Amino acid sequence: MPKVDVLLGLQWGDEGKGKIVDVLTPEYDVIARFQGGPNAGHSLEFHNIKHVLHTIPSGIFHKGKTNLIGNGVVIDPVIFTREIEALEELGVYPRDDIYVSKKAHLILPSHRILDAATEASKGDTKIGSTLKGIGPTYMDKTGRNGLRVGDIVLPDFIEKYNFLKNKHREILRQYDFEDDPENYEEEWFSGIETVKSFKLVDSEHFINRLIKENKSVLAEGAQGTLLDIDFGSYPYVTSSNTICAGACTGLGIAPTAIGEVLGIFKAYCTRVGGGPFPTELTDETGARMRKQGNEFGSTTGRPRRCGWLDLPALKYSIMINGVSRLIMTKADVLTGFKTLKICTGYKSNNQVLDSLPFDTAQPLEPLYTELKGWDEDISAINNYGELPPEFTGFIEYIEKETGVPVTIISLGPSRSATVFRHPDQGRIS
Ligand code: GDP
Ligand code: IMO
Ligand code: MG
Repeated sequence: MPKVDVLLGLQWGDEGKGKIVDVLTPEYDVIARFQGGPNAGHSLEFHNIKHVLHTIPSGIFHKGKTNLIGNGVVIDPVIFTREIEALEELGVYPRDDIYVSKKAHLILPSHRILDAATEASKGDTKIGSTLKGIGPTYMDKTGRNGLRVGDIVLPDFIEKYNFLKNKHREILRQYDFEDDPENYEEEWFSGIETVKSFKLVDSEHFINRLIKENKSVLAEGAQGTLLDIDFGSYPYVTSSNTICAGACTGLGIAPTAIGEVLGIFKAYCTRVGGGPFPTELTDETGARMRKQGNEFGSTTGRPRRCGWLDLPALKYSIMINGVSRLIMTKADVLTGFKTLKICTGYKSNNQVLDSLPFDTAQPLEPLYTELKGWDEDISAINNYGELPPEFTGFIEYIEKETGVPVTIISLGPSRSATVFRHPDQGRIS
């Protein structure tokens, strides 16, 4: 039986997952999102179209592929509707290709307000949430209060909705937060009608049947490993398991069904929102990365914090996910930097650490190794052999340190700016 390959971020999100999933989609029959929700912003670029997806899997631009929104995803019907409309404006009519899990949880207007209220109450220690209602929705899921997509066709849906909304109102009163869910209900219920018009499926049966029928599946992660609820820089994390195990719980597939684990990372690091970031550069080098890399959030437009590649953090992510192949993106952004730095460890209280400590609030001084940069414009190169030796030296250093091959290198936002490292072995296998 074919295995399910999993593509996921190894840093703090925005590694370029959307672009690479779009590039790899021709190799697969099914693309499945397994966690997160509209906090994600996955950008795709081709034929002068630049598009950002939030809930819909990044396989949607390839007609005839099955795109599944799994049980682990949380859905805001308003954002989902806008995404569908935006696709239709581009001439993509995705209704036949999208399947939605009945077990996926719904983000209510009151979840979004609760997100805003909790963030506001945290002051300086706020997470920097995308304010899409993610945390409160997953809290209601684990608290066993949530509403699921399958509920929308049941006769007591409105009753259940009102019960949960009123519960949230009680909480909001304690926060003294002035906004009412009813201000958003009309649009939300209209969004519910849109969701209803899609194919709602028992997704665990659906996907396992497809696997049995020899269909190949790519599971598309959202966020990144360092934002994982268990293994990220807690509490500055999102509220789902962004790691490979999340593909099992977020789709209903067995661990033995997992095939390749494709770990994607940028040639440097970015982070949006609060939380520790040992290699962050607040100087002009960081500003240059932001400018050259156009590092502004796809979902919120916020400037992303930038810094050098963090090898201990990358190795940690590789360990947690069992990454079998690496994909490096945005190396083109480093063109023209005379010297490239890679963090190899941290210094704290005169001790050298080779991994992130439990107490991520403790100040860490990154220790760097330096490599020579390249000046050549590499953005149009499609063949590994044509890349400058400094570039291939950078790749080979990472491979040596991590013990995992870098099989795909992305050199620009568009589909075409992609180098397959081992083309003789096929793209992914
Ligand atoms: P995702 O959330 O992991 O899908 O990543 P985002 O789409 O939020 O952010 C990645 C950004 O970098 C997007 O604007 C992409 O168009 C862009 N991008 C992706 N790969 C590359 C690359 O190799 N080079 C450059 N310069 N930009 C890239
Ligand atoms: P993609 O899929 C980057 C960050 C937020 C915040 C923290 C918690 O595009 O890589 P949340 O809204 O989940 O409560 O926010 O996580 N965050 C992301 N950062 N890329 C993302 O998704 C993110 N999704 C959430 O900025 O720091
Ligand atoms: Mg993103």
